[in-house]
Amino acid sequence: MPEVKVSHLSKTFADNAVLHDVTFTIADGEFFTLLGPSGCGKSTTLACIAGLERPTDGTVSVGEQTFVDAATFIPPEGRNLGMVFQSYALWPHMTVAQNLAMPLKIRKVDGRRQTVLIDEALEKVGLRELRDRYPHQMSGGQQQRVALARALVYSPTVLLLDEPLSNLDAQLREQARAWLKRLQEDLGITTVYVTHDQQEALALSDRIAVMSEGHMVQIGTPREIYETPATAQVAAFVGRSNFLRGQVKNTSATGCEVVLDCTGQTIHIQADAVAGQEVTVAIRPERLEVLPTGRLAAPDVNVLSATVLTSSYIGSRYEYDLRLGNHVVQVESSRPGLTGEVTLVVEPGACLIYPATGVLSEDVEALITVTP
Ligand SMILES: Nc1ncnc2c1ncn2[C@@H]1O[C@H](COP(=O)(O)OP(=O)(O)OP(=O)(O)O)[C@@H](O)[C@H]1O
Ligand SMILES: [Mg+2]
Repeated sequence: MPEVKVSHLSKTFADNAVLHDVTFTIADGEFFTLLGPSGCGKSTTLACIAGLERPTDGTVSVGEQTFVDAATFIPPEGRNLGMVFQSYALWPHMTVAQNLAMPLKIRKVDGRRQTVLIDEALEKVGLRELRDRYPHQMSGGQQQRVALARALVYSPTVLLLDEPLSNLDAQLREQARAWLKRLQEDLGITTVYVTHDQQEALALSDRIAVMSEGHMVQIGTPREIYETPATAQVAAFVGRSNFLRGQVKNTSATGCEVVLDCTGQTIHIQADAVAGQEVTVAIRPERLEVLPTGRLAAPDVNVLSATVLTSSYIGSRYEYDLRLGNHVVQVESSRPGLTGEVTLVVEPGACLIYPATGVLSEDVEALITVTP
């Protein structure tokens, strides 16, 4: 299977620029996800790869074949890519087998070969026995598998999936996610997946590209994206984070001291910064620890005093909303029943630091919850 190369892709609809200089390369057999909020340009990027949209600028190639550049535009039918949309787009008046036969007829595959390929594709998605059903006689999950089988039946070089699981209910969606990942690994097919669901992206992908307002913000493995988000926006969009504003007091070989705006207290953070700089500190709820007051914390950690506002039991753990100065901080903990005054333990290595100034950081401002 070939690699997919997208270089300096831009797209403008009328005078609305929706993609800006988007560049990425997807390796052979990789599961690559475009992740970002609604309207950030994920589907437009996928449509440019598929040939459903023509980019204003930039190039797209798969293996040795250039699909788009200044002088070239290969139409969708010349690209041999498999595509599945959120809506499945099955033909309602055709059986499963007839739905799968359509792309083969277009490719002028003879009748006997069609039957073999249809059975093979249905076998891959575990639906061989439903070949004579109509779409309305199947569940959403089954229809979604048929749509996938129809995209696989002509052995595409690359699979393009645009939110294919979003019509399924939560439980079915998780099952379909695990199943899709196994199938993709078994087939070894290079896959470009579009979703705005960060958990889905983390669970499925070899690498994730986070997009914001038509820009590529960060590309990395799920672990890199979650543990070292490139910007405060990525930290906010992928998983949850507490954001605290502060100022860097001084720096040392082991990091820096930051005075928090919300309490005036100083915490030690294991990260590079510049003395005097205004910063946003991001901390994941599961990286904070909460202890009853009086209980000694480990040495070399930051200890802050906080008050429990609410606690909720969410099955596997407890979630606490704590008042920290005039801010609300969320903590995930295995410790039940904490109330009143508590000790908040912040490890120096659990904090990420971002510049507090600049256009992007203003969005993060809105995520900081202040108590009345
Ligand atoms: N054919 C079009 N004509 C004009 N504007 C368009 C067209 N298609 C998309 N857009 C605009 O481009 C921007 C990006 O749209 P796109 O569909 O790529 O977003 P998305 O990231 O897939 O969002 P969602 O998660 O909601 O599907 C949006 O502002 C959208 O309104
Ligand atoms: Mg979309």
